[in-house]
Parts: sequence; C-alpha cells; structure tokens
Amino acid sequence: MAPIICIDGPSGAGKGTISQLVAQYLGWHLLDSGAIYRVLGVACLSNSVAWDDIPAVVAIAQTLPVRFEPGTEGMRVLLGGTDVTQAVRSESGSRGASAVAVHPEVRSTLLDWQRTFAADPGLVADGRDMGSTVFPAAELKVFLTASAEARAERRFQQLLERDENVNFPRLLEDIKARDARDSERDASPLCPAEDAIIIDSTLLSVDDVLEKVLALVAQRGIGKRTTG
Ligand code: C5P
Repeated sequence: MAPIICIDGPSGAGKGTISQLVAQYLGWHLLDSGAIYRVLGVACLSNSVAWDDIPAVVAIAQTLPVRFEPGTEGMRVLLGGTDVTQAVRSESGSRGASAVAVHPEVRSTLLDWQRTFAADPGLVADGRDMGSTVFPAAELKVFLTASAEARAERRFQQLLERDENVNFPRLLEDIKARDARDSERDASPLCPAEDAIIIDSTLLSVDDVLEKVLALVAQRGIGKRTTG
C-alpha cells in the first residue's frame, strides 16, 4: 500500500494550499476530497436533483463523470467535458457539497473511489474524514484548524481576488453554519482522528505550517524526496 498523509480540518484552515505544497514537495499524488463533494452538488443542480433526494444523489454519485486536470491556476474540474472549476469553488458549490455530504449513503458510495487515489509513490489526502474514515492506517494524520474569524478572512480575500461579490459577516456566518453541519452530522463528522497531530494556523503563515508538516514527515521517515 502506498504511503498516505492525511490533512483534515474545517473549511478555510489552509488544507488545500498545504496539501498541494506537501504533495509537490514529495512528488506524491493529491486527493482533494472536498472537490468530489462539491462537484457532486453541482452535478445534482445541473440534473435538477435536490441535495436531499438521497436515492437520486447516490445514483449520480455512482457514475459521476468527473475528471481533475492540472490547469494554470491549480486543478481544473471537468464534469462530463464541461469545465465546472468556478462553479465548484463558488459559495453555492460549498453549500451543495456540505448538503450532499451529510448523507451516509452518499459517503459510503464515494468511499471506495476515494481509496483508489492511493498509489505509489504516495498520496496526500485533503478533507474532513481522511484520517478518521477513508485512510485510517495513514502514516501521518494532520488536523489543521484556525479560528472561524481567521478562516472567514482568508476566504474573503480569496473571493475578492476572484471579483466575487462578498460580504464578510455573511461569509463568517456561512463558515460557522458549515462547521456546525460538518461537525454535528452522524456520518463521519468533522473531528480529529485519535492519532492526528493538531496544528492551529490562526497565527501562522503558510510557510510556518508547511515547515511544521514537513518536520513531521521527516521525523517519521516518510519525507524521502522522490523528485528533483
Ligand atoms: O474541503 P472543501 O471546503 O472543498 O469541502 C466542501 C464540503 O465538502 C465540506 O464543507 C464538507 O461538508 C464536505 N466534505 C466532507 N468530507 C470530505 C471533504 C469535504 O464531508 N472528506
């Protein structure tokens, strides 16, 4: 089995950025599991399926025609040939993802598929339940968190850069509502795996967090760089 590093945590904690940098550093594959839930929410919308219509959502999840391709600004997400990168990253994409992700039937449908991403030389898996449920035997589990205010502020800046029309108090409220929905659901709730190392990034820069994660990788002897 390929070595696995799991980076879990709430939205806006910096998991995506850190996971990408760690994967790049090690020359490993990357699984952005949030993108899978996001694209599922978008696919439901485009098929006029309500996010709470469990059998219909499961049917879409079973044959989701999604592809992830490297683009100039990170991964491009293609749904049946249509580029849905912007839609999956929008606030409605976030709401759809967390609405479909509450259903245990949907999560178990996506479980085996997520596990197929584990391949040599290794996988960095970014999500909510990577360490607790999807890859319980992972070599390293990091739970990356930050205060809701710091996370809302980071998201605010990101959306401003993309010229999206945003309002900070509404964003903070959305983040808190999503945290509550992700933490209080019965299926794979957002919580650190028992053996996860918790890193609070509220007062840390991306470089600080990366340094901490790479130190853990090296400590555990899984930091053998495979690319130049
Ligand atoms: O990580 P990201 O913000 O893209 O995730 C979007 C939503 O997908 C989360 O709010 C969460 O509800 C859901 N999700 C999940 N389990 C994962 C990854 C994401 O439930 N492993």
